[in-house]
Amino acid sequence: MRILGIETSCDETGIAVYDDEKGLLSHELYSQVKLHADYGGVVPELASRDHVRKIIPLIEKAMEDADTQPSDIDGVAFTQGPGLVGALLVGSSVGRSLAYAWNVPAVGVHHMEGHLLAPMLEDDAPEFPFVALLVSGGHSMLVKVEGIGQYEVLGESIDDAAGEAFDKTAKLLGLDYPGGPLLAKLAEKGEAGHYKFPRPMTDRPGLDFSFSGLKTFAANTIRDADLTGGDAEQIKANIAYAFQEAVVDTLIIKCKRALKQTGMKRLVIAGGVSANTMLRSEMKALMQELKGEVFYPSLAYCTDNGAMIAYAGMQRLKAGETLALSSQAKPRWPLDTLSAI
Ligand code: KG4
Ligand code: ZN
Repeated sequence: MRILGIETSCDETGIAVYDDEKGLLSHELYSQVKLHADYGGVVPELASRDHVRKIIPLIEKAMEDADTQPSDIDGVAFTQGPGLVGALLVGSSVGRSLAYAWNVPAVGVHHMEGHLLAPMLEDDAPEFPFVALLVSGGHSMLVKVEGIGQYEVLGESIDDAAGEAFDKTAKLLGLDYPGGPLLAKLAEKGEAGHYKFPRPMTDRPGLDFSFSGLKTFAANTIRDADLTGGDAEQIKANIAYAFQEAVVDTLIIKCKRALKQTGMKRLVIAGGVSANTMLRSEMKALMQELKGEVFYPSLAYCTDNGAMIAYAGMQRLKAGETLALSSQAKPRWPLDTLSAI
């Protein structure tokens, strides 16, 4: 079976063709980063319009690269939610129209299920059950995963998502949008021990996160720092290091707790922030210590992409799930309401 996957929930147009026997056949991505950079964040209306411009040429390219004709396609999967409503509508309109025209089922995919299953695209895919740490620009959550669609949310952010905290702190440090990867790069030049950021909500039981206080702590630290001298860049790098260390440490503490609570030894980390080098190496060390295993998507599939949507869509298509032509985009859509397959 072969499926076309479409991702348009935020500022990336991602298209992929996935075959359940041959694997991923093609994968196209257009990032709108430059379009939104001047505004310091995603402008929803501009995002929707740009998806409209890019989606068809990218689908044509993905089909061509996969040497695939419409008659070879058994279903069309698209991100149905959560995300920016205008952006979602582009993917869902095109996805459902193609499914109608090609006379195949349409499948609505939950964006976070896409992230959660992205490590399944790798050769060393994790087996169920596992604990998933999903850390993206819009969400931070710990999920107990027994199988596809069997999700128990153990904890989530009560305010900013981890990626959002990275982006906001990066902005305070004068870095461009989206600042997460730039802050991580700056932190590589930073030295440990100069600043000590808090580890929010680790001093009480529970698995929820709160990251907005870190951003405020960063704002105060930057305000109090003397950034007028020749060592300003080094000071900024030290602040970036301390911020990143605090986020990573907090995530480690919560993952450790979630593994203990569930009795599981397998951890999956996905979403944009899972591209973070420090997070990846610290989590690896943690799982070695706990004699468990950690799985990530490869870097290309950590941030938003069409491949994860095609993969998740394929699993639901094979389970016989299809979408009515009248179904709506879902800007808000709790992960634990998905059906088990
Ligand atoms: O999953 P994603 O592409 O989009 C959402 O679903 O939100 O995640 C994007 C987020 C952004 O906040 C970005 O700054 C962050 O992931 N990110 C990183 C890194 N790469 C991307 N944060 C920290 N370190 C990175 N290397
Ligand atoms: Zn995402």
